[in-house]
Amino acid sequence: MQRVIRILALVLILGLGALWATAWFGREPGESAGNAFMRQFAALTGREQLPAGPQVGIQLPAGVTLGGPFEMRNQDGRAVTQADFQGQLLVGYFGFTFCPDVCPTELGSIAAAMDMLAQDQAAKVTPVFVTVDPERDTPEQMKNYVGNFHPRMVGLTGTPEQTADMARRFRVYYAKVERPDMSEYLMDHSSFIYLIGDGGRVRALLRPQSSPEDIAAAIRALLPQA
Ligand code: NI
Repeated sequence: MQRVIRILALVLILGLGALWATAWFGREPGESAGNAFMRQFAALTGREQLPAGPQVGIQLPAGVTLGGPFEMRNQDGRAVTQADFQGQLLVGYFGFTFCPDVCPTELGSIAAAMDMLAQDQAAKVTPVFVTVDPERDTPEQMKNYVGNFHPRMVGLTGTPEQTADMARRFRVYYAKVERPDMSEYLMDHSSFIYLIGDGGRVRALLRPQSSPEDIAAAIRALLPQA
């Protein structure tokens, strides 16, 4: 029995060693061996793990498509679909206007990234804030809010069904959070930044708290070279 345990331990050590070696040689530029190890380990266990480190764009696994058609209402109360943004690269973020800190920070970064683009580049890009709190985020409320961040920012809201449909396509998690010590509810929500192309299809996913520089770089990488 002891021998079996010893052999198992040896196999485990050799296995982990091999994984470390793979991680060491297979790490992305600028990625630490530890992060590469976690990435390899996650791939092995089949668990989804976001790549850590300075790498910005999150690769979607092959065969996975995100996004697609949507029907919402913009900040002027007009019905819009993905077709209204044809030819534009959208920088999408899902949140809610009552969000105390995360949403304003992320939208501020997106706005700063917009201002880093050359004029002809920025003309092909539209920042879009999609609310996951349509109950409170009326078009009027959205209009006041997005105007605080960037003159070109579009705010999308919809019926609860339209919102749920869009969130499902983009795999956005959101849930109402009510606490007895607060008079107003909050929304818990995922916080990725989506670069969205024609047909509403997601072309790249950026991790939460990406810097304006990283967002701008990811946008430039996706814009057709003119
Ligand atoms: Ni938020």
